[in-house]
Amino acid sequence: IPVSSFDYVVFGATGDLTQRKLLPALYQRFRDGQIPESSRIIGASRTELGTEDFRARARDALLSFVPAGDIDEAKLRGFLDHLFYVAVDALGEDGWGELKRMLDERPDRIRPFYLATSPDLYGAICRSLDRHGLIGENTRVVLEKPIGKDLKSARAINDAVGAVFPESQIFRIDHYLGKETVQNLLALRFANTIFERLWNADVIDHVQITVGETVGVEGRAGYYDTSGALRDMVQNHILQLLCLTAMESPISLDADSVRDEKLKVLRALKPITAADVQTVTVRGQYAAGAVGGQPVTGYQTDLGDHPSSRTETFVALKLEVRTWRWAGVPFYVRTGKRLPKKHSEIVVQFRASPFSIFPSESFGREPNRLVIRLQPEEGMKLEVMTKDPGPGGMRLRPTNLDISFEEAFKQRYPDAYERLLMDVVRGNATLFMRRDEVEVAWAWADTLLKAWAERPEPPRPYAAGSWGPTAAIALIERDGRTWHEEL
Ligand code: BG6
Repeated sequence: IPVSSFDYVVFGATGDLTQRKLLPALYQRFRDGQIPESSRIIGASRTELGTEDFRARARDALLSFVPAGDIDEAKLRGFLDHLFYVAVDALGEDGWGELKRMLDERPDRIRPFYLATSPDLYGAICRSLDRHGLIGENTRVVLEKPIGKDLKSARAINDAVGAVFPESQIFRIDHYLGKETVQNLLALRFANTIFERLWNADVIDHVQITVGETVGVEGRAGYYDTSGALRDMVQNHILQLLCLTAMESPISLDADSVRDEKLKVLRALKPITAADVQTVTVRGQYAAGAVGGQPVTGYQTDLGDHPSSRTETFVALKLEVRTWRWAGVPFYVRTGKRLPKKHSEIVVQFRASPFSIFPSESFGREPNRLVIRLQPEEGMKLEVMTKDPGPGGMRLRPTNLDISFEEAFKQRYPDAYERLLMDVVRGNATLFMRRDEVEVAWAWADTLLKAWAERPEPPRPYAAGSWGPTAAIALIERDGRTWHEEL
Protein backbone atom coordinates (compact mmCIF):
# COMPACT_ATOMS: atom_id res chain seq x y z
CA ILE A 1 0.00 0.00 0.00
CA PRO A 2 1.62 3.27 -1.05
CA VAL A 3 2.24 5.85 1.65
CA SER A 4 1.52 9.57 1.16
CA SER A 5 3.98 11.61 -0.90
CA PHE A 6 6.95 12.76 1.10
CA ASP A 7 10.16 14.72 1.10
CA TYR A 8 12.51 12.66 3.29
CA VAL A 9 15.46 14.80 4.34
CA VAL A 10 18.38 12.72 5.56
CA PHE A 11 21.06 14.56 7.53
CA GLY A 12 24.32 12.61 7.57
CA ALA A 13 23.65 11.57 3.99
CA THR A 14 27.23 10.59 3.21
CA GLY A 15 27.61 8.57 6.41
CA ASP A 16 27.71 4.86 7.00
CA LEU A 17 24.14 4.39 8.24
CA THR A 18 22.65 6.17 5.22
CA GLN A 19 24.70 4.15 2.79
CA ARG A 20 24.33 0.76 4.48
CA LYS A 21 20.79 0.89 5.78
CA LEU A 22 18.66 3.91 4.86
CA LEU A 23 19.20 4.06 1.10
CA PRO A 24 18.88 0.26 0.67
CA ALA A 25 15.67 0.30 2.75
CA LEU A 26 14.18 3.16 0.73
CA TYR A 27 15.18 1.42 -2.52
CA GLN A 28 13.39 -1.76 -1.44
CA ARG A 29 10.25 0.20 -0.60
CA PHE A 30 10.45 1.92 -3.99
CA ARG A 31 10.93 -1.42 -5.74
CA ASP A 32 7.82 -2.72 -4.01
CA GLY A 33 5.82 0.26 -5.25
CA GLN A 34 5.25 1.78 -1.83
CA ILE A 35 6.87 5.14 -2.53
CA PRO A 36 4.74 7.52 -4.60
CA GLU A 37 6.41 8.79 -7.78
CA SER A 38 6.44 12.42 -6.72
CA SER A 39 8.34 11.77 -3.48
CA ARG A 40 11.88 13.00 -2.96
CA ILE A 41 14.76 11.86 -0.79
CA ILE A 42 16.99 14.79 -0.06
CA GLY A 43 20.45 14.02 1.26
CA ALA A 44 22.04 16.70 3.43
CA SER A 45 25.50 16.83 4.93
CA ARG A 46 28.51 19.13 5.16
CA THR A 47 30.34 17.51 2.22
CA GLU A 48 30.24 19.65 -0.93
CA LEU A 49 28.56 17.39 -3.49
CA GLY A 50 26.16 17.82 -6.37
CA THR A 51 23.01 15.77 -6.79
CA GLU A 52 24.69 13.75 -9.56
CA ASP A 53 27.65 12.87 -7.29
CA PHE A 54 25.25 11.88 -4.56
CA ARG A 55 23.34 9.65 -6.93
CA ALA A 56 26.58 8.00 -8.06
CA ARG A 57 27.53 7.30 -4.44
CA ALA A 58 24.05 6.02 -3.72
CA ARG A 59 24.28 3.70 -6.69
CA ASP A 60 27.54 2.23 -5.37
CA ALA A 61 26.00 1.83 -1.93
CA LEU A 62 22.96 0.04 -3.31
CA LEU A 63 25.08 -2.30 -5.40
CA SER A 64 27.12 -3.14 -2.29
CA PHE A 65 24.39 -3.44 0.32
CA VAL A 66 21.27 -4.65 -1.50
CA PRO A 67 21.29 -8.40 -2.26
CA ALA A 68 22.20 -8.86 -5.94
CA GLY A 69 18.91 -10.67 -6.65
CA ASP A 70 16.96 -7.57 -5.59
CA ILE A 71 18.74 -5.22 -7.98
CA ASP A 72 16.60 -4.41 -10.96
CA GLU A 73 18.38 -1.94 -13.22
CA ALA A 74 15.23 -0.06 -14.32
CA LYS A 75 13.98 0.24 -10.73
CA LEU A 76 17.42 1.27 -9.57
CA ARG A 77 17.53 4.11 -12.09
CA GLY A 78 14.00 5.10 -11.22
CA PHE A 79 14.92 5.23 -7.56
CA LEU A 80 18.06 7.32 -8.14
CA ASP A 81 15.94 9.90 -9.95
CA HIS A 82 14.20 10.56 -6.63
CA LEU A 83 17.44 11.48 -4.88
CA PHE A 84 18.63 15.07 -4.41
CA TYR A 85 21.42 16.61 -2.43
CA VAL A 86 22.04 19.85 -0.55
CA ALA A 87 25.28 20.68 1.27
CA VAL A 88 24.21 21.97 4.69
CA ASP A 89 26.36 23.03 7.60
CA ALA A 90 24.57 21.76 10.70
CA LEU A 91 26.36 24.25 12.93
CA GLY A 92 26.41 27.24 10.58
CA GLU A 93 24.24 29.04 8.06
CA ASP A 94 25.41 27.50 4.80
CA GLY A 95 22.89 25.53 2.79
CA TRP A 96 19.78 26.14 4.87
CA GLY A 97 18.34 28.64 2.43
CA GLU A 98 18.72 26.18 -0.42
CA LEU A 99 17.09 23.40 1.61
CA LYS A 100 14.20 25.70 2.45
CA ARG A 101 13.77 26.69 -1.17
CA MET A 102 13.53 23.03 -2.18
CA LEU A 103 11.08 22.12 0.54
CA ASP A 104 8.92 25.19 -0.06
CA GLU A 105 8.32 23.97 -3.60
CA ARG A 106 6.03 21.32 -2.08
CA PRO A 107 4.73 22.57 1.24
CA ASP A 108 1.95 19.98 1.55
CA ARG A 109 4.27 16.97 1.66
CA ILE A 110 4.94 14.72 4.66
CA ARG A 111 8.37 15.95 5.64
CA PRO A 112 10.46 13.67 7.85
CA PHE A 113 13.92 14.87 8.90
CA TYR A 114 16.09 11.85 9.60
CA LEU A 115 19.07 12.73 11.80
CA ALA A 116 21.66 10.09 10.94
CA THR A 117 24.40 12.24 12.45
CA SER A 118 26.26 12.32 15.72
CA PRO A 119 23.75 12.95 18.55
CA ASP A 120 25.80 16.05 19.49
CA LEU A 121 24.26 17.71 16.44
CA TYR A 122 20.60 16.84 17.10
CA GLY A 123 19.88 19.97 19.12
CA ALA A 124 21.66 22.31 16.67
CA ILE A 125 19.93 20.81 13.63
CA CYS A 126 16.51 21.09 15.26
CA ARG A 127 17.14 24.72 16.19
CA SER A 128 18.18 25.50 12.62
CA LEU A 129 15.13 23.74 11.21
CA ASP A 130 13.01 25.94 13.43
CA ARG A 131 14.90 29.15 12.70
CA HIS A 132 14.50 28.60 8.98
CA GLY A 133 10.78 27.97 9.24
CA LEU A 134 11.01 24.34 8.12
CA ILE A 135 8.78 22.86 10.79
CA GLY A 136 5.05 22.54 10.42
CA GLU A 137 2.19 20.12 10.91
CA ASN A 138 3.55 17.66 8.35
CA THR A 139 7.06 17.47 9.73
CA ARG A 140 8.59 14.71 11.83
CA VAL A 141 12.04 14.20 13.21
CA VAL A 142 13.70 10.79 13.40
CA LEU A 143 16.50 10.30 15.93
CA GLU A 144 18.98 7.48 15.60
CA LYS A 145 20.43 5.90 18.67
CA PRO A 146 22.43 6.53 20.77
CA ILE A 147 20.24 9.16 22.39
CA GLY A 148 23.00 10.32 24.71
CA LYS A 149 25.47 8.28 26.73
CA ASP A 150 23.76 8.61 30.10
CA LEU A 151 20.59 10.06 31.59
CA LYS A 152 21.96 13.59 31.75
CA SER A 153 23.02 13.76 28.11
CA ALA A 154 19.82 11.99 26.98
CA ARG A 155 17.75 14.60 28.80
CA ALA A 156 19.74 17.40 27.21
CA ILE A 157 19.08 15.96 23.73
CA ASN A 158 15.40 15.35 24.49
CA ASP A 159 15.05 18.90 25.84
CA ALA A 160 16.71 20.42 22.78
CA VAL A 161 14.63 18.41 20.31
CA GLY A 162 11.49 18.81 22.42
CA ALA A 163 11.89 22.59 22.43
CA VAL A 164 11.17 22.52 18.70
CA PHE A 165 9.11 19.39 17.99
CA PRO A 166 6.14 18.12 20.02
CA GLU A 167 6.62 14.57 21.31
CA SER A 168 4.06 13.28 18.77
CA GLN A 169 6.42 14.34 15.94
CA ILE A 170 9.56 12.76 17.44
CA PHE A 171 10.43 9.24 16.27
CA ARG A 172 13.28 7.66 18.27
CA ILE A 173 14.50 4.64 16.36
CA ASP A 174 15.44 1.36 17.93
CA HIS A 175 15.83 -0.72 14.81
CA TYR A 176 15.29 -3.96 16.77
CA LEU A 177 11.63 -2.98 17.07
CA GLY A 178 11.36 -3.03 13.27
CA LYS A 179 12.66 -6.59 12.95
CA GLU A 180 9.92 -8.92 11.76
CA THR A 181 10.49 -11.49 14.47
CA VAL A 182 10.46 -8.84 17.16
CA GLN A 183 7.08 -7.63 15.95
CA ASN A 184 6.06 -11.25 15.89
CA LEU A 185 6.49 -11.36 19.64
CA LEU A 186 3.37 -9.21 19.86
CA ALA A 187 1.51 -11.64 17.61
CA LEU A 188 2.77 -14.66 19.51
CA ARG A 189 1.75 -13.29 22.87
CA PHE A 190 -1.44 -11.46 22.09
CA ALA A 191 -2.98 -13.27 19.10
CA ASN A 192 -2.75 -16.78 20.58
CA THR A 193 -4.49 -18.04 23.66
CA ILE A 194 -2.12 -20.85 24.52
CA PHE A 195 0.93 -18.89 25.55
CA GLU A 196 -0.45 -15.95 27.45
CA ARG A 197 -2.14 -18.27 29.98
CA LEU A 198 1.27 -19.72 30.78
CA TRP A 199 3.23 -16.48 30.65
CA ASN A 200 4.01 -15.98 34.31
CA ALA A 201 6.08 -17.10 37.28
CA ASP A 202 3.77 -20.06 38.04
CA VAL A 203 4.85 -21.84 34.88
CA ILE A 204 7.98 -20.09 33.58
CA ASP A 205 11.30 -20.91 35.22
CA HIS A 206 13.42 -18.24 33.54
CA VAL A 207 13.96 -16.31 30.32
CA GLN A 208 17.18 -15.94 28.31
CA ILE A 209 17.94 -13.27 25.75
CA THR A 210 21.07 -13.66 23.62
CA VAL A 211 22.22 -11.23 20.95
CA GLY A 212 25.47 -12.51 19.53
CA GLU A 213 27.56 -10.83 16.84
CA THR A 214 30.65 -12.03 15.00
CA VAL A 215 31.84 -8.55 14.02
CA GLY A 216 34.36 -6.61 16.07
CA VAL A 217 34.36 -2.83 16.36
CA GLU A 218 34.94 -2.41 12.62
CA GLY A 219 35.52 1.21 11.69
CA ARG A 220 33.63 2.49 14.73
CA ALA A 221 36.33 2.27 17.37
CA GLY A 222 36.07 5.97 18.24
CA TYR A 223 32.39 5.71 19.08
CA TYR A 224 32.47 2.20 20.52
CA ASP A 225 35.29 2.80 22.96
CA THR A 226 33.29 5.57 24.64
CA SER A 227 30.21 3.38 24.64
CA GLY A 228 30.71 -0.34 25.27
CA ALA A 229 28.19 -3.15 25.06
CA LEU A 230 25.93 -1.96 27.88
CA ARG A 231 25.26 1.41 26.26
CA ASP A 232 25.43 0.14 22.67
CA MET A 233 23.17 -2.92 22.94
CA VAL A 234 21.64 -3.44 26.39
CA GLN A 235 20.24 0.01 27.25
CA ASN A 236 18.22 -0.05 24.04
CA HIS A 237 17.86 -3.25 21.97
CA ILE A 238 18.02 -5.82 24.76
CA LEU A 239 15.82 -3.87 27.15
CA GLN A 240 13.28 -3.41 24.37
CA LEU A 241 13.26 -7.18 23.74
CA LEU A 242 12.84 -7.73 27.44
CA CYS A 243 9.95 -5.24 27.55
CA LEU A 244 8.07 -6.94 24.73
CA THR A 245 8.58 -10.32 26.42
CA ALA A 246 7.59 -9.18 29.89
CA MET A 247 4.96 -6.47 29.39
CA GLU A 248 1.27 -6.82 30.18
CA SER A 249 -1.17 -6.79 27.28
CA PRO A 250 -1.61 -3.23 26.02
CA ILE A 251 -5.22 -2.15 25.61
CA SER A 252 -4.58 -1.59 21.88
CA LEU A 253 -1.73 -1.35 19.42
CA ASP A 254 -1.70 2.43 19.45
CA ALA A 255 1.64 3.98 20.20
CA ASP A 256 0.97 5.17 23.72
CA SER A 257 -0.78 2.00 24.88
CA VAL A 258 2.20 -0.14 23.87
CA ARG A 259 4.73 2.32 25.21
CA ASP A 260 2.90 2.69 28.54
CA GLU A 261 3.23 -1.07 29.09
CA LYS A 262 6.91 -1.16 28.11
CA LEU A 263 7.58 1.73 30.45
CA LYS A 264 6.11 -0.20 33.38
CA VAL A 265 8.55 -3.05 32.75
CA LEU A 266 11.49 -0.64 32.65
CA ARG A 267 10.32 0.90 35.89
CA ALA A 268 10.05 -2.56 37.47
CA LEU A 269 13.63 -3.54 36.56
CA LYS A 270 15.64 -3.99 39.71
CA PRO A 271 18.58 -1.57 39.71
CA ILE A 272 21.95 -3.31 39.90
CA THR A 273 24.04 -1.62 42.56
CA ALA A 274 27.58 -2.09 43.85
CA ALA A 275 26.29 -4.67 46.35
CA ASP A 276 25.27 -7.20 43.67
CA VAL A 277 27.37 -6.25 40.69
CA GLN A 278 29.68 -9.20 41.24
CA THR A 279 27.00 -11.83 41.41
CA VAL A 280 24.68 -10.69 38.64
CA THR A 281 26.95 -9.10 36.03
CA VAL A 282 29.89 -10.16 33.88
CA ARG A 283 31.84 -7.81 31.64
CA GLY A 284 34.19 -9.10 28.98
CA GLN A 285 36.53 -7.77 26.31
CA TYR A 286 37.55 -9.86 23.31
CA ALA A 287 41.15 -10.92 22.87
CA ALA A 288 42.70 -12.33 19.70
CA GLY A 289 41.14 -15.57 18.48
CA ALA A 290 39.33 -16.97 15.46
CA VAL A 291 35.80 -16.41 14.21
CA GLY A 292 34.45 -18.75 11.53
CA GLY A 293 37.92 -20.21 11.08
CA GLN A 294 39.49 -16.79 10.40
CA PRO A 295 42.07 -15.45 12.84
CA VAL A 296 41.13 -12.04 14.22
CA THR A 297 42.90 -9.53 16.43
CA GLY A 298 41.84 -8.50 19.91
CA TYR A 299 39.91 -5.37 20.88
CA GLN A 300 42.96 -3.45 22.13
CA THR A 301 44.71 -4.01 18.80
CA ASP A 302 41.54 -3.06 16.90
CA LEU A 303 41.60 0.25 18.73
CA GLY A 304 45.17 0.83 17.54
CA ASP A 305 46.95 -0.70 20.52
CA HIS A 306 45.19 0.84 23.42
CA PRO A 307 46.09 -1.51 26.29
CA SER A 308 44.39 0.61 28.89
CA SER A 309 40.87 0.52 27.46
CA ARG A 310 38.38 -0.88 29.99
CA THR A 311 35.46 -0.83 27.58
CA GLU A 312 33.34 -3.99 27.63
CA THR A 313 32.58 -5.75 24.35
CA PHE A 314 30.53 -8.43 26.12
CA VAL A 315 27.98 -8.30 28.91
CA ALA A 316 26.00 -10.99 30.69
CA LEU A 317 23.44 -9.99 33.31
CA LYS A 318 20.87 -11.58 35.53
CA LEU A 319 17.91 -9.22 35.67
CA GLU A 320 14.80 -9.10 37.80
CA VAL A 321 11.45 -7.62 36.84
CA ARG A 322 9.77 -6.80 40.11
CA THR A 323 6.09 -7.45 39.40
CA TRP A 324 3.53 -10.06 40.44
CA ARG A 325 3.80 -11.74 37.06
CA TRP A 326 7.57 -12.12 37.14
CA ALA A 327 8.56 -12.32 40.81
CA GLY A 328 11.31 -14.94 41.15
CA VAL A 329 11.79 -15.43 37.37
CA PRO A 330 15.30 -14.38 36.34
CA PHE A 331 15.94 -12.85 32.93
CA TYR A 332 19.47 -13.80 31.85
CA VAL A 333 20.72 -11.63 29.01
CA ARG A 334 24.02 -11.63 27.13
CA THR A 335 25.43 -9.83 24.14
CA GLY A 336 28.85 -9.43 22.68
CA LYS A 337 31.10 -8.76 19.72
CA ARG A 338 33.31 -11.46 18.21
CA LEU A 339 31.14 -14.34 19.38
CA PRO A 340 31.09 -17.60 17.39
CA LYS A 341 28.06 -16.68 15.31
CA LYS A 342 25.54 -13.98 14.59
CA HIS A 343 22.61 -15.33 16.45
CA SER A 344 19.85 -13.68 18.45
CA GLU A 345 17.14 -15.48 20.31
CA ILE A 346 14.76 -15.31 23.24
CA VAL A 347 14.32 -18.54 25.17
CA VAL A 348 11.40 -18.96 27.54
CA GLN A 349 12.08 -21.98 29.70
CA PHE A 350 9.12 -23.49 31.50
CA ARG A 351 9.34 -25.18 34.87
CA ALA A 352 10.24 -28.85 34.92
CA SER A 353 7.34 -31.24 35.42
CA PRO A 354 6.83 -31.64 39.14
CA PHE A 355 7.00 -35.42 39.21
CA SER A 356 7.98 -38.11 36.73
CA ILE A 357 6.00 -41.28 36.19
CA PHE A 358 8.71 -42.48 33.83
CA PRO A 359 11.57 -44.63 35.03
CA SER A 360 14.84 -42.76 35.38
CA GLU A 361 16.42 -44.68 32.49
CA SER A 362 13.82 -42.94 30.24
CA PHE A 363 16.23 -40.02 30.00
CA GLY A 364 14.87 -37.60 32.37
CA ARG A 365 12.67 -34.63 32.41
CA GLU A 366 13.87 -31.94 30.08
CA PRO A 367 11.79 -28.84 30.65
CA ASN A 368 9.78 -27.36 27.77
CA ARG A 369 11.37 -24.42 26.06
CA LEU A 370 9.94 -21.90 23.66
CA VAL A 371 12.75 -20.58 21.48
CA ILE A 372 12.08 -17.42 19.48
CA ARG A 373 14.81 -17.05 16.86
CA LEU A 374 15.18 -13.39 15.99
CA GLN A 375 17.97 -13.68 13.42
CA PRO A 376 19.10 -15.31 11.25
CA GLU A 377 16.81 -18.27 10.38
CA GLU A 378 13.87 -16.44 11.87
CA GLY A 379 11.35 -18.70 13.46
CA MET A 380 10.05 -20.26 16.61
CA LYS A 381 10.16 -23.66 18.13
CA LEU A 382 8.70 -25.33 21.13
CA GLU A 383 10.76 -28.12 22.64
CA VAL A 384 8.51 -30.89 23.93
CA MET A 385 9.25 -34.31 25.39
CA THR A 386 8.22 -37.20 23.15
CA LYS A 387 8.57 -40.94 23.13
CA ASP A 388 11.39 -42.33 21.07
CA PRO A 389 9.74 -44.50 18.42
CA GLY A 390 10.32 -48.24 18.60
CA PRO A 391 9.64 -51.22 20.77
CA GLY A 392 12.48 -50.46 23.16
CA GLY A 393 10.23 -49.19 25.94
CA MET A 394 9.30 -45.74 27.12
CA ARG A 395 12.40 -43.77 26.24
CA LEU A 396 11.90 -40.02 26.13
CA ARG A 397 13.68 -37.28 24.29
CA PRO A 398 13.01 -33.64 23.44
CA THR A 399 11.79 -32.89 19.91
CA ASN A 400 10.75 -29.64 18.31
CA LEU A 401 7.53 -28.16 17.09
CA ASP A 402 9.34 -25.95 14.67
CA ILE A 403 8.22 -23.03 12.49
CA SER A 404 10.69 -21.59 10.04
CA PHE A 405 9.31 -18.26 8.85
CA GLU A 406 11.22 -18.55 5.61
CA GLU A 407 9.46 -21.80 4.76
CA ALA A 408 6.10 -20.73 6.15
CA PHE A 409 5.93 -17.46 4.24
CA LYS A 410 8.26 -17.90 1.28
CA GLN A 411 8.89 -14.23 0.90
CA ARG A 412 11.70 -11.79 1.39
CA TYR A 413 12.20 -10.64 4.94
CA PRO A 414 12.24 -6.84 4.86
CA ASP A 415 14.98 -5.10 6.78
CA ALA A 416 13.86 -3.40 9.99
CA TYR A 417 14.51 0.04 8.51
CA GLU A 418 12.05 -0.54 5.68
CA ARG A 419 9.16 -0.85 8.06
CA LEU A 420 10.32 1.94 10.36
CA LEU A 421 11.04 4.51 7.63
CA MET A 422 7.54 4.02 6.24
CA ASP A 423 5.97 4.11 9.72
CA VAL A 424 7.44 7.59 10.11
CA VAL A 425 5.67 8.71 6.94
CA ARG A 426 2.42 7.14 8.16
CA GLY A 427 2.89 8.86 11.52
CA ASN A 428 2.69 5.54 13.38
CA ALA A 429 4.94 5.70 16.45
CA THR A 430 4.10 2.30 17.98
CA LEU A 431 7.53 0.86 17.17
CA PHE A 432 9.46 3.94 18.32
CA MET A 433 10.63 4.87 21.78
CA ARG A 434 9.01 7.59 23.78
CA ARG A 435 11.08 10.06 25.77
CA ASP A 436 10.22 8.55 29.16
CA GLU A 437 11.20 5.03 28.04
CA VAL A 438 14.62 6.20 26.91
CA GLU A 439 15.20 8.12 30.11
CA VAL A 440 14.08 5.34 32.48
CA ALA A 441 16.32 2.90 30.58
CA TRP A 442 19.24 5.31 30.97
CA ALA A 443 18.57 5.77 34.68
CA TRP A 444 18.80 1.98 35.11
CA ALA A 445 21.97 1.77 32.96
CA ASP A 446 23.57 4.67 34.86
CA THR A 447 23.22 2.82 38.16
CA LEU A 448 25.02 -0.20 36.72
CA LEU A 449 27.71 1.88 35.01
CA LYS A 450 28.36 3.63 38.30
CA ALA A 451 28.62 0.30 40.14
CA TRP A 452 31.11 -0.97 37.54
CA ALA A 453 33.12 2.24 37.70
CA GLU A 454 33.65 1.67 41.43
CA ARG A 455 35.27 -1.71 40.85
CA PRO A 456 38.98 -1.99 40.34
CA GLU A 457 39.08 -4.97 37.96
CA PRO A 458 38.93 -4.50 34.17
CA PRO A 459 36.55 -6.53 31.96
CA ARG A 460 37.51 -10.20 31.70
CA PRO A 461 39.26 -11.15 28.46
CA TYR A 462 37.65 -13.79 26.23
CA ALA A 463 39.02 -15.34 23.06
CA ALA A 464 37.34 -14.01 19.92
CA GLY A 465 35.12 -16.82 18.66
CA SER A 466 34.08 -18.01 22.13
CA TRP A 467 30.79 -17.31 23.95
CA GLY A 468 32.41 -14.75 26.26
CA PRO A 469 34.30 -15.17 29.52
CA THR A 470 33.73 -18.39 31.47
CA ALA A 471 32.30 -16.25 34.26
CA ALA A 472 29.25 -15.75 32.01
CA ILE A 473 28.66 -19.49 32.11
CA ALA A 474 29.12 -19.48 35.87
CA LEU A 475 26.60 -16.63 36.17
CA ILE A 476 23.75 -18.91 35.08
CA GLU A 477 25.16 -22.26 36.27
CA ARG A 478 25.35 -20.98 39.83
CA ASP A 479 21.56 -21.02 39.71
CA GLY A 480 21.46 -24.61 38.42
CA ARG A 481 20.60 -23.47 34.87
CA THR A 482 22.49 -23.39 31.57
CA TRP A 483 22.54 -21.16 28.51
CA HIS A 484 20.46 -22.60 25.74
CA GLU A 485 22.77 -25.20 24.29
CA GLU A 486 21.92 -25.17 20.60
CA LEU A 487 23.92 -22.02 20.12
C1 BG6 B 1 23.58 -1.26 16.55
C2 BG6 B 1 24.86 -1.26 17.34
O1 BG6 B 1 22.60 -0.51 17.20
O2 BG6 B 1 23.13 -2.60 16.39
C3 BG6 B 1 25.90 -2.11 16.66
O3 BG6 B 1 25.33 0.08 17.47
C4 BG6 B 1 25.37 -3.49 16.40
O4 BG6 B 1 27.10 -2.18 17.45
C5 BG6 B 1 24.02 -3.43 15.68
O5 BG6 B 1 26.32 -4.18 15.57
C6 BG6 B 1 23.41 -4.81 15.58
O6 BG6 B 1 22.28 -4.76 14.75
P1 BG6 B 1 21.80 -6.02 13.92
O7 BG6 B 1 20.55 -5.56 13.26
O8 BG6 B 1 22.90 -6.36 12.97
O9 BG6 B 1 21.57 -7.12 14.92
